[in-house]
Amino acid sequence: MIVLGIETSCDETAAAVVSGGDRLLSNVVASQFDVHGKYGGVVPELASREHLRAITPVVREALAGAGIRMKDLDAVAATYGPGLVGSLLVGLTYAKGLAVGLHIPLLGVNHIEGHIQAVVLEQKQKGNQLSFPALALVVSGGHSHLFLMTSPSEGEYRYRVVGKTRDDAAGEAFDKVAKLLGFGYPGGPLIDKLAPYGDASKIRLPGARMKGNRLDLSFSGLKTAVLRHVRAAEMDEEIETRRALFHAGPRPTIEQTLAVTPQATLDLVASFQHRVIEELVQRALGAIEDQPVETIIVSGGVAANQGLRKRFESLPYPVYFPTLKLSTDNAGMIAAAAYPRLVRGERSELNLQAQPNLRLGA
Ligand code: KG4
Ligand code: ZN
Repeated sequence: MIVLGIETSCDETAAAVVSGGDRLLSNVVASQFDVHGKYGGVVPELASREHLRAITPVVREALAGAGIRMKDLDAVAATYGPGLVGSLLVGLTYAKGLAVGLHIPLLGVNHIEGHIQAVVLEQKQKGNQLSFPALALVVSGGHSHLFLMTSPSEGEYRYRVVGKTRDDAAGEAFDKVAKLLGFGYPGGPLIDKLAPYGDASKIRLPGARMKGNRLDLSFSGLKTAVLRHVRAAEMDEEIETRRALFHAGPRPTIEQTLAVTPQATLDLVASFQHRVIEELVQRALGAIEDQPVETIIVSGGVAANQGLRKRFESLPYPVYFPTLKLSTDNAGMIAAAAYPRLVRGERSELNLQAQPNLRLGA
């Protein structure tokens, strides 16, 4: 079965072709960094307009990359939530059009399940059958969730939320702190690159003490702590210098960025990243204490973080990440999540609505 996946939930227009559930034949992602960068975040109206512009060429490129034609497709899968409604609608409507035109089944996919299934797909590719139950940590710009994932039968997956963020998502915290410090958007990848130049032990930033479910997360206090530090250390001038550099034009190189970032700021960046990682690791370990698992899966944009990877890999459990290309938003993960469902006979109606607040699991 050849499945075309389409993903347009946020600011990436993506299409991918997956054959037999485990062969990723193509994976095309058109990012909108340049469109939103100067606004310091995603502008929903601009995102939908860019998706409209990009969707046809991106799908064509995905088909060409896979060496197939439209008529070779057996099914089409698209993200129907969660995400920005105007963005979701572009990919979902396009997918419906293809399903009708080609007389093939349509399947709506939950974006969060996509992030998790990206890991399952890549392990299958390697001939590695993951063992369940698993703990799946999804950390991205839109969500930070811990799921207990079970697989009652081959290709069937169930998810139960055991912890989630009460305010910002992990990626959002990275982006907001980066913005606060005068680094461009999105901030996560840059903080990741800068953190190794700083000493996290120089500045202590607080973790969140959770009332109620101790596995929940909160990053707003951490963000405020960084803001307080910025004020106390009178960093306004250097922040303005960086802002000017990041607004000036093409993305500055890491060397150019380091040249306008004093050591004390690099220490702050390292300390912030360290704290985010520790918060995530502590919640994951807490979840395993409650419910032993065979496997840990870490996915979503923040799973691209090198520090996070190293820390999770140091744990005495089998931990699986997606490769970098499948960590941030892509459509390979959408086709991957669709495949086992399609095989089981699942289909979506053509009146499937985009669901901006769609949840995964109970
Ligand atoms: O999964 P994703 O591409 O989109 C959403 O579903 O939200 O995640 C994007 C988020 C952004 O907040 C971005 O700053 C963050 O993931 N991110 C990173 C890294 N790469 C992307 N955060 C930390 N370190 C990274 N290397
Ligand atoms: Zn995502």
